[in-house]
Amino acid sequence: MMRPSSSSSSSSVGIVFAVLGLALNAAVLCNGGITSSFVRQAEKSVDMPLDSDVFAEPPGYNAPQQVHITQGDHSGKAVIVSWVTMAEPGSNTVLYWSEKSKVKMQAEASVVTYKYYNYASGYIHHCTIRNLEFDTKYYYEVGSGHVRRKFWFVTPPEVGPDVPYTFGLIGDLGQTYDSNMTLTHYELNPAKGKTVLYVGDLSYADNYPNHDNVRWDTWGRFVERSAAYQPWIWTTGNHEIDFAPEIGEFEPFKPFTHRYPVPFRASDSTSPSWYSVKRASAYIIVLASYSAYGKYTPQYEWLQQELPKVNRTETPWLIVLVHSPWYNSYNYHYMEGETMRVMFESWFVEYKVDVVFAGHVHAYERSERVSNIAYNIINGMCTPVKDQSAPVYITIGDGGNIEGLANNMTEPQPNYSAYREASFGHASFDIKNRTHAYYSWHRNEDGYAVEADSMWFFNRYWHPVDESSSS
Ligand SMILES: [Fe+2]
Repeated sequence: MMRPSSSSSSSSVGIVFAVLGLALNAAVLCNGGITSSFVRQAEKSVDMPLDSDVFAEPPGYNAPQQVHITQGDHSGKAVIVSWVTMAEPGSNTVLYWSEKSKVKMQAEASVVTYKYYNYASGYIHHCTIRNLEFDTKYYYEVGSGHVRRKFWFVTPPEVGPDVPYTFGLIGDLGQTYDSNMTLTHYELNPAKGKTVLYVGDLSYADNYPNHDNVRWDTWGRFVERSAAYQPWIWTTGNHEIDFAPEIGEFEPFKPFTHRYPVPFRASDSTSPSWYSVKRASAYIIVLASYSAYGKYTPQYEWLQQELPKVNRTETPWLIVLVHSPWYNSYNYHYMEGETMRVMFESWFVEYKVDVVFAGHVHAYERSERVSNIAYNIINGMCTPVKDQSAPVYITIGDGGNIEGLANNMTEPQPNYSAYREASFGHASFDIKNRTHAYYSWHRNEDGYAVEADSMWFFNRYWHPVDESSSS
């Protein structure tokens, strides 16, 4: 039995802990911005089992599956339709028609297959449909006979400076129960994203024995419900490398490049890992964290020639996608993006990139507008400083894959970090006109319309003044 004195002292200790707890539960203001009060257990996310309904194969012999689309040219008048047939090649034709004309047209696909260790892929079809009208709903069909499947997409408006357009941001999705929540929240978000900017790490098949490529198939079936109806713009992450010499697999990016084509030649790129597209009022540059980017390399040379081509009177919004973040204050993948930052950051400031989206770290973080480009080998100026010509850096690697949340942060929060939180979710970038865009981040625990972090973006070219943010 406890003595009265002990009881009294334990209750005062309890009060102290309660006060401390309240203080810790409020948003903690450190040297930098806000570290969210949302704190979660470090627990692994669990992959959905193979017999989950989200992985179900469509009924019928050799029915097309894993249907997905991406932009097929530089300006948005072409779409690449991809699908897989498992038993035999089957029909190679895509039938398509616009809602306006209803005249059925057709385009032919090419078929590829690949082997990976003891896995043999199905027949992977890729068909580029060209000369589409802007801002038009198209229906399309793949397969033939009783296994014909019908989908639709809407082409973007013609490229122009004041064209409103809404992008979704998803990264590091994987195929867990959390991944499914993230995708559902994206689909039901009233912001209504029209195109997904995907910042890399797709299926996480390489986390399975021998990079079990069956998990590439299940992932394709899982995301079909979105990716067959709106383009997903792809970025390569480390889980796309699939380099495994120990099992005789020497070709980096083999499963990814066979399954997810991108229109890299349309932007004079020589590799599907880096390229650009224009879409509505945005110019989107995709970079590759896991391909060479040092001086004289193909990616370096391409980006050097690419940035001056961006015409901000045509596409005011300059968005960069890359997998490994340059500004990251979590104790995961810390400074992994540093060498690419050193190579390219001064260009991003010079060309006034509006925003850089990255993944890789399984959490959320938004930076201030900062740069760290003054340093040379003797001056010691190696601290990020506020810079209104610099991009905002956003880590959105919180899609929910099997590796779980990154919830260990560096302390104190650095000055460059405006907001950080270890929660799964997705984001939306809603361009209003040439000067303004509304950005919001949505955590999976909240209702579909709830914004856990948000910010008005003022365009760096047309309206380069200080912004306010809210969380
Ligand atoms: Fe990654």
